[in-house]
Amino acid sequence: MSNVKVPYLDLKAQYQSIKPEIDAAIARVLESCQFVLGSEVTGFERDFASYCGTSECIGLNSGTSALHLALLAAGVGPGDEVITVPFTFVASVAAIIYAGARPVLVDIEPRSFTMDPGKIESAITPRTKAILPVHLYGQAADMDPILEIARRRGLVVIEDAAQAHGAKYKGKSVGSLADMACFSFYPGKNLGAYGEGGAVTTNDPEYARAVRMLRDWGQDQKYHHVLRGYNYRMEGFQGAVLGVKLRRLDQWTEGRRRLVRQYNSLLSHCGVETPREMPWAHHVYHVYTVRSADRDGLQAKLASEGIQTGIHYPVPVHLQPAYADLGYGAGSFPQSEAAAQQVLSLPLYPELSSEAVAQVAAGISRAAAKTTISR
Ligand SMILES: Cc1ncc(COP(=O)(O)O)c(C=O)c1O
Repeated sequence: MSNVKVPYLDLKAQYQSIKPEIDAAIARVLESCQFVLGSEVTGFERDFASYCGTSECIGLNSGTSALHLALLAAGVGPGDEVITVPFTFVASVAAIIYAGARPVLVDIEPRSFTMDPGKIESAITPRTKAILPVHLYGQAADMDPILEIARRRGLVVIEDAAQAHGAKYKGKSVGSLADMACFSFYPGKNLGAYGEGGAVTTNDPEYARAVRMLRDWGQDQKYHHVLRGYNYRMEGFQGAVLGVKLRRLDQWTEGRRRLVRQYNSLLSHCGVETPREMPWAHHVYHVYTVRSADRDGLQAKLASEGIQTGIHYPVPVHLQPAYADLGYGAGSFPQSEAAAQQVLSLPLYPELSSEAVAQVAAGISRAAAKTTISR
């Protein structure tokens, strides 16, 4: 532990850079005692809706809750199918099961790591109700063909934007691209709370009304329960922290993108494949992921030099033991399976120094396998 020279993430550095504002925001919550929802949450909801270009934002207690409630608000339930990808954090798939529906998986397109629109049509059945593309690593999925299929087939589209705060698709903000979008504010996210948090954004007042009721026990007024709801409310502390951080988000994203340019140029001839910003995307690099034919060897070599890395994700959802009953075996999604074996996430956060990026890149150029990636 003590030999860590470049940590994967450094939340403390960010707190130090905004300490007076955060401390004042926390103190406001303590003074007001609005610990659940309250004015700090309402203020953040207003600001985040405006940031995403939507009329509505509903603050919740996690990104998982956001996915669950967006699906319920869309009317997804038992007997329905929802199309998503296996190369994602498990919550994208789990939330579909929470809603009582069946996840139907389609493979990713390997350059963007996001849903391959060419795979959707053949996965649609009379039971299909919704498509749930994931803006993985901070890059929007190719939404136009997805929305075109959905419009033609009468399907709802819900963005999993948990990793993509501030990302854009053809100039338009994620969160406003489809019927609803789901965000996570888990502490390590680009816009992270100081605990759990999430939100749904939408331009549809009916979806917003349903999500707002469902997060608070389905009440339309106190102790009058018109829907079977949940306790998924956002805490006052999280609204206060997120309000402060949202004002810094674009500047932090620019900091990430500057470091990414440095990584890309230093790693251009190192035997690893650097991530690609697709022509439609403004990528916010929640995760900076390279591909290596000898990923595990590279990770071990970097660890021996005190450089922490991550793997997002080592096992695609369809090969996780908990989801074996979805009925997909090894070989079902070759692009997702290859990605799971080859991806390595490097340290990246706005406070990371250029020197540290150079150190990581030097470690990779010493260690990287010279073999080429096969897919
Ligand atoms: C793609 C994706 N979807 C959903 C979630 C779930 O969000 P949360 O951890 O806030 O429940 C995450 C969180 O890591 C995520 O990365």
